[in-house]
Amino acid sequence: MVRAWAPGRVNLIGDHTDHTGGLVLPMAIDLGTTVTGRPGGVVVDLRSPIEPEPAVVPLTVDDPAGVAPAWARYVAGVVAELAPTAGLEGVVATTLPVGAGLSSSAALEVAVALALGFRGSALDLARLCQRAEQRASGVPCGIMDQLASAAGVARHALRIDCTTLDVRPVPMPGDVEVVVVDSGQRRALATSAYADRAADCQVAQQAVGPLRQADLGDLTSLTDEVVRRRARHVITENGRVDELAEALATGDRPAMHEAMAASHRSLRDDFEVSTPELDALVGRLEATKGVIGARLTGAGFGGCAVALVEADTRLPADLTAWAVEAADGARILDEVGDARP
Ligand code: GLA
Repeated sequence: MVRAWAPGRVNLIGDHTDHTGGLVLPMAIDLGTTVTGRPGGVVVDLRSPIEPEPAVVPLTVDDPAGVAPAWARYVAGVVAELAPTAGLEGVVATTLPVGAGLSSSAALEVAVALALGFRGSALDLARLCQRAEQRASGVPCGIMDQLASAAGVARHALRIDCTTLDVRPVPMPGDVEVVVVDSGQRRALATSAYADRAADCQVAQQAVGPLRQADLGDLTSLTDEVVRRRARHVITENGRVDELAEALATGDRPAMHEAMAASHRSLRDDFEVSTPELDALVGRLEATKGVIGARLTGAGFGGCAVALVEADTRLPADLTAWAVEAADGARILDEVGDARP
């Protein structure tokens, strides 16, 4: 038997920057996904108590996006990328809210890859699972979600440079808590809109070179006003990642607030991935006593906001919120017997 665990993630700042090699500051969280199973056979057969249909994926799968039910696509993406020599029969259990923006799909991919026998570095695990996610969902996503899940460090956020893939743990202040708050809005247009935004960034990069190296002055040569705003978001957001990392290191509340507020405005106005629901939620959070800063987190178009709050902060009772802790990354929990052929 093998039992593998992978955490979800919340991104503190640095959204829609990873796919242009930018900076991000996610943390792995203490909610995640466990895959328990018996290796063997020629299919991966996983059941989940929250899914009516099992994921039954042959080892020969070559079109993960065509697999049903939908959750099985992520399993299929991993099978197609990893090409394991033996299948697995088992169960998936998760403490993550599914589809809420806490990377439940990345956690599933990473846990499945480990359970299917992936052994290697956190970075290689993340790369494999990023490709799996892209093939499963058709979204040209970056590496943040899978790398945060694979490389998490307890009590730390991760400052990831998505150009060099250098991961630097940033200690979280002991007296600041992280709360994820659900907008209740499920992400509907995320697939096409995410790809559109990524394409806008590519247009900008063709004109000015890597956005990671560009500065705002370079943008004057961009004639398309929309492309210019997309690029402006990426460049300013990269700067805010280090501003928030520095503010966390020094415990500087006003700087934490400003970095998060500016990030939300930029995602709303320049990158246009917020929604009226998310804007209203962030406004309510900012108006709540004890909240240091708040912003939408992840891809946007619905999903969740993240807030940094003082200990013992009471959020409005009608909000669906999870207090999360920075956790260690994915790992094998148990491996018993030698069932692999
Ligand atoms: C999704 C993607 C990530 C990242 C975020 C936005 O979660 O999977 O790669 O681009 O959106 O920051």
